[in-house]
Amino acid sequence: MTRGCFITLEGGEGVGKSTQLRLLATVLELRGLDVIVTREPGGSPGAEDIRNLILSGDKDRWDMKTEAMLFAAARADHLRATVRPALERGAWVLCDRFIDSNRAYQGAAGELGDAFILALHELGSDGFMPERTLVLDLPDDVIGIRAEERDQGQEIDRIGGRTLNYHRRVAQAFREFSAQDPARVRLIDAGGEREDVTARLLGAISDLL
Ligand code: TMP
Repeated sequence: MTRGCFITLEGGEGVGKSTQLRLLATVLELRGLDVIVTREPGGSPGAEDIRNLILSGDKDRWDMKTEAMLFAAARADHLRATVRPALERGAWVLCDRFIDSNRAYQGAAGELGDAFILALHELGSDGFMPERTLVLDLPDDVIGIRAEERDQGQEIDRIGGRTLNYHRRVAQAFREFSAQDPARVRLIDAGGEREDVTARLLGAISDLL
């Protein structure tokens, strides 16, 4: 049996990742593929527990290094318990966020640097990388508005509640990753009708199908 395919979806807050992931999964299932949808931080019982530790509580609960290591620990468990077994049975794994979120949020915006995050990933997860990473991108002036709309009436989490500057730095980092590694990381315009966005995502993985 051939090994499945690992696709990650990335982007800032409120760019429509979760909706697009579901739509993309449906399209791939209609093509007869075995698809699982998962997320980070989380995606396995242990990693979901770590997610609660990371995202809840006081904003100063963890310093940036500890936060980065918690994400790396959650990722190691998620890979072991969920992602690797699914890939081994030949499934397509669609994951809402992965290592590039760690690089963008803690490495770039959190100023730990890319080398630190990649070293953690090497130690925790043998540097395991996705076949393709799709980054949903919106112009900087829309980023804050979308995040506010999404979070209205909800309690905002430790990371979503950071400054607009932090979130713009995150978006900029994702753009840089795609410029550095265009074979893996594809920047997708997240604007317009959602069906159009799904079609763009599908276009960016068509060579893998
Ligand atoms: P979500 O809102 O997409 O579920 O993600 C939870 C938050 O965690 C979001 O603000 C992005 C952040 N995050 C990081 O800061 N580093 C990471 O490595 C991951 C996976 C997520």
